[in-house]
Amino acid sequence: MEESEMNVSEKEKREGIAGELADIFHRQSAIVECNSILQFNVGNAKSNRFQKMAEEDEKNLKMIESVINSFGLRVPAKTLAETMSETLIETVSDESVTPLEQLALYTLTKQNQMMCCHLVHKSAQVSAADIKLALTPFEGIYASFTKQVAELVVLTEEFGVEWLTGEKPASGITGRVRDAMATVMGAVLSKTAKPFEEMNVMEVLAIEHRKVDALFKEIESADDHESAKGFFAQLKGDLTAHSIAEEDTVYSTFKTFADSNEKMEHAQEEHMELRSILDEISLVLDDEDEFSARVEQLKEKVQHHVKEEETTLFALIEKHSSKEQQIALSKAFLDEKRVIQINVGTDDIAASAANDRSIGTNTNSNDASL
Ligand SMILES: [Fe+2]
Ligand SMILES: [Fe+2]
Repeated sequence: MEESEMNVSEKEKREGIAGELADIFHRQSAIVECNSILQFNVGNAKSNRFQKMAEEDEKNLKMIESVINSFGLRVPAKTLAETMSETLIETVSDESVTPLEQLALYTLTKQNQMMCCHLVHKSAQVSAADIKLALTPFEGIYASFTKQVAELVVLTEEFGVEWLTGEKPASGITGRVRDAMATVMGAVLSKTAKPFEEMNVMEVLAIEHRKVDALFKEIESADDHESAKGFFAQLKGDLTAHSIAEEDTVYSTFKTFADSNEKMEHAQEEHMELRSILDEISLVLDDEDEFSARVEQLKEKVQHHVKEEETTLFALIEKHSSKEQQIALSKAFLDEKRVIQINVGTDDIAASAANDRSIGTNTNSNDASL
């Protein structure tokens, strides 16, 4: 809306936000009511997880209520929010409805809460100072829904499959890794509260670096060796795609500056070394001690590399590019990474092929060149 800003008066703006707050409050009350009716007929372990969620829901309800108080304008909830809330309560109280359907509607309502909290949070950013202040807690409320939605996806898999098929879900390591990562990324993203398209290349690289840190932690604290191997596969795929995309877009761009060339060459060499170690680890996957030792070695090297990148490389990016170029570069990096992920995947052959690459094979020079 930057170019053709709609003419919304201050009064309309406040009423609009008040309406969203009323809807969120209305649905949240219904969610809290549901939590007491509903245990989704699940076993103890899962009940505990619902119990935790229910406690968080009550806390959020109180937070929303206090935000509405400090916002200072109270309007009735809209018809759709009322209908959704009523339908939710009716559905979970109706014994002829399957638990899977109940869970689906419950999840949908929480997704809706997540979206609306995000909307309120983003609207606050472009509003007057008093609105901004009153709505500050929404950053945390939004983060909490993001986490809950990720958790509900896992719960749906865990017992939805059983309800539907009578079989236990396959304990796919990749699936579990993906779930864990969704939660990690949800938490990271909710902190930045900014979509990827609005981030500059340094913000995007930093988020990816934190994801790699998280994966090392997952490998170290995995319950069993099979899970550790699963997390390693994810780490290898991520690190390979990240490093190649970095070379093709970021390094190749800044290599052209006299004061940066040597540093880019050095970073490129470190990438090659990291990818060799990744390959070597793939050869000792089933030797638990050797695997752990090599992963530890890899972690130290990655940490050293990332530290250099976030100081030296980021300083060069700041020095040699404008804000617009930094955003364009982040897009180029993400596009390139997407292509690599599609083409490379996480298999060993592709990863070792990637290791033979040399700097400057930029396939995306239009977006990235300064
Ligand atoms: Fe990096
Ligand atoms: Fe790097």
